[in-house]
Amino acid sequence: MAAPDEDGAGAADQGGGERRRAATAVLLLAAVALPCLVLYRAAVSPVGLFVRPAALPWQGAAPPPPLHDDVNSAVDSEDARLERVLKAAAMANNTVILTTLNSAWSEPGSVVDVFLESFRIGENTRELLDHLVMVSLDLAAHRRCKQIHPHCFALTTDGVDFSGQKNFMTDGYLKMMWRRIDFLSLVLDKGYSFIFTDTDIVWFRNPLPHLYPDGDFQIACDHFTGDPDDLRNSPNGGFTYVRSSAATVEFYRFWYAAREKHPGLHDQDVLNRIKRDPFISHLGVRIRFLSTDIFGGLCEHSRKLTGVCTMHANCCIGLRRKIDDLGLMLQDWRRFMATPSKDKHSVTWSVPRNCSMRV
Ligand SMILES: *[C@@H]1O[C@H](CO)[C@@H](O)[C@H](O)[C@H]1NC(C)=O
Ligand SMILES: *[C@@H]1O[C@H](CO)[C@@H](O)[C@H](O)[C@H]1NC(C)=O
Repeated sequence: MAAPDEDGAGAADQGGGERRRAATAVLLLAAVALPCLVLYRAAVSPVGLFVRPAALPWQGAAPPPPLHDDVNSAVDSEDARLERVLKAAAMANNTVILTTLNSAWSEPGSVVDVFLESFRIGENTRELLDHLVMVSLDLAAHRRCKQIHPHCFALTTDGVDFSGQKNFMTDGYLKMMWRRIDFLSLVLDKGYSFIFTDTDIVWFRNPLPHLYPDGDFQIACDHFTGDPDDLRNSPNGGFTYVRSSAATVEFYRFWYAAREKHPGLHDQDVLNRIKRDPFISHLGVRIRFLSTDIFGGLCEHSRKLTGVCTMHANCCIGLRRKIDDLGLMLQDWRRFMATPSKDKHSVTWSVPRNCSMRV
């Protein structure tokens, strides 16, 4: 999942090679880790693993008692702020589009500008901007958001004012990834379904009609096997759709809790370890994987632009290269739109050009 780190290469963006090497390790680890998880769940669920604490979850499992009044009111106002922003942005059926933004990605000419531009030049995507909430991870990102977009939410950390988190992405990369999972579980808990999109994904068509009607948790892939139900698909958490329900809230809390059994791993790798857990089918959460033909990326995409909804600058290390290739994707789309219908099928992507996994 490509939470933007400092050079713009989210861990999840490293795609194929690393993933394949990891796959071998996963098989070995699964034999050890899964029984542990089951034990872990058995050990903690009766005492309320899935009971949301009164305080916001990112204050940690054991919030310092008692909270100061001023901290409390800060927390309350953040919660109220979130509800206000979600309500203002939601579609009639309580669905929102969410993305997270840090300062490097929010600078003029950087990733966020390409991202927003894609909605403006896409087919029927401009109106989706009314439903997009940008979740800023630091003060600079929040300021920029307020200049360019109506729905901005500043996510604070550990009761610390986010303006103090200037080096957040360098120091707290994993923490932030997990914080995001926790944040998304809160959004679900508030009754909002969402599409989460990384900001380095350009949107050219409305993805909503292409989601499966019966999938509670739907996720894009670095590599798609062709079968949306195949758990061997390599998910990429940069694009997910989650339907809000009691089951998906529990699923997110289970996922979040599983991080403690897998220290040092980010959310996507932990998802790969828990995706077969019987607890998930017990919850009744239907996981479905999205085709790279429609939800493509630089790791894998269909050559043609005729059916694509989104394109992810995954499998790409380096912010500058990422911006270059995202810009090329916009050019490709403009070329596609300017081509007469009868010739459209012949328009192909010119990416990846600069992007690669080389450091
Ligand atoms: C929510 O509403 C949008 C806009 O009307 C629609 O495209 C989408 O499919 C709906 N989502 C669900 C889950 O019903
Ligand atoms: C991207 O590729 C183009 C053409 O090969 C080159 O001119 C440009 O300098 C490259 N940009 C980066 C950041 O490598």
